Amino acid sequence: MEKATISEVARHEGKEVTLNGWLYNKRSSGKLWFLLIRDGTGIIQGVASKEDVSESTFQHCMDVTQESSLSVTGIIAEDKRAPGGYELQVKELRILQLVEDYPITPKEHGTAFLMDHRHLWLRSSRQVAILRIRQEIIRACRDFFDQNGFVLVDAPIFTPAACEGTTTLFETDYFGSQAYLTQSGQLYMEAAAMALGKVYCFGPTFRAEKSKTRRHLTEFWMLEPEVAFMDLDGDMELAENFIAYIVQRILQNRSEELKQLERDTASLEKIGTPFPRLTYDEAVQILKKKGINFEYGNDFGGTDETVISEGFQKPVMIHRYPAAVKAFYMKNDPEDLSKALCVDVLAPEGVGEIIGGGQREDDYDTLVEKIKKHQLPLKAFQWYLDLRRYGTVPHAGFGLGIERTVSWICGLPHVRETIPFPRMMHRLTP
Ligand code: 4AD
Ligand code: MG
Repeated sequence: MEKATISEVARHEGKEVTLNGWLYNKRSSGKLWFLLIRDGTGIIQGVASKEDVSESTFQHCMDVTQESSLSVTGIIAEDKRAPGGYELQVKELRILQLVEDYPITPKEHGTAFLMDHRHLWLRSSRQVAILRIRQEIIRACRDFFDQNGFVLVDAPIFTPAACEGTTTLFETDYFGSQAYLTQSGQLYMEAAAMALGKVYCFGPTFRAEKSKTRRHLTEFWMLEPEVAFMDLDGDMELAENFIAYIVQRILQNRSEELKQLERDTASLEKIGTPFPRLTYDEAVQILKKKGINFEYGNDFGGTDETVISEGFQKPVMIHRYPAAVKAFYMKNDPEDLSKALCVDVLAPEGVGEIIGGGQREDDYDTLVEKIKKHQLPLKAFQWYLDLRRYGTVPHAGFGLGIERTVSWICGLPHVRETIPFPRMMHRLTP
């Protein structure tokens, strides 16, 4: 008797195996029980016939309830009609724990209820598919940079200063002085790029977002590359190659999961380079033409981003926003000092910004001015200014939000399902 996992039953065709897992669902037609068994690697249908199994096993089939843990032995047989192409002809069923009143039933539940039971909701096949796609997206992110000569450098989580504005900082006591949870690893990647040339970090980042939107989490994961001797054009090229690579990898390695989510893959198949590039001014023109009431000079809101990206089948790269609405570290466009050499990548299908980045201010005096203008504490940025004191060079990078990328690729309207245990303004549990 061999132990097997459901994902590899094809290898055991015609043989007797034991599967360990949980009951997903079941139905009966008199002398037959059809058990849907899941083990994390997949789902298989087990068929138990009253004539072929012992009385106690048949009784267990009658008794076993949703999410009861079990161990089942039987023969793997090919069956074209079965989900996955194989079924298990049950010989023996042992119940490890008989579950009573599993809270999530196959009927519809409200989102709040499911979020409260996120620790159990993760077991549903839809959530499993999303988590598998998330894993592959993360793997693709790392592979892309690892294969292109980047060095992974881990950024700290405790930081002494703000990177992305002071309004979304999570403060914490650090042995009597004040520290913040990091909003971005960027400043540290700039230091690392001066040491290693091409670097990236990947980790959790934190923002005290007080807005309740479908795009904002308070804890999210970001992938941030940074490259020495790169300008905004190089940055945009890197971003488009990176996104196209991720989408290709998911189409290649997670097609089953996309099918399960009923994701229309035709739109993903169109994501080849180059991506359209628009200046901020051109994007504003689109809004004007579509009759949107937008004040020139502002940053785009979620709805504006949706409207702008509607006209494109690929992600669209918007560059050169007004410097006034962007972070202190951005370099101004020498052709128009009111603009920043920055780029936001907006994903199609209404998802909005998935990447923010650009070329960094590399001049010492200008950077000092900017820190002051943003009313940030100069003292906390002395180490960062050292990068402009000692061998400063043009450099650029960006940050890709993993959850928004997952929501785009999976076709999910809200980021809450893209991360195992979402953290939002009103959600800290489970
Ligand atoms: O545009 P942002 O704020 O850029 C930065 O943090 C730069 N320091 C990155 C860099 O240049 N190294 O954030 C980057 C991306 C956004 O495009 C979005 O995908 C994601 O991070 N993001 C969020 N995702 C979920 N919830 C939030 N509250 C997010 N805030 C940003
Ligand atoms: Mg941004």
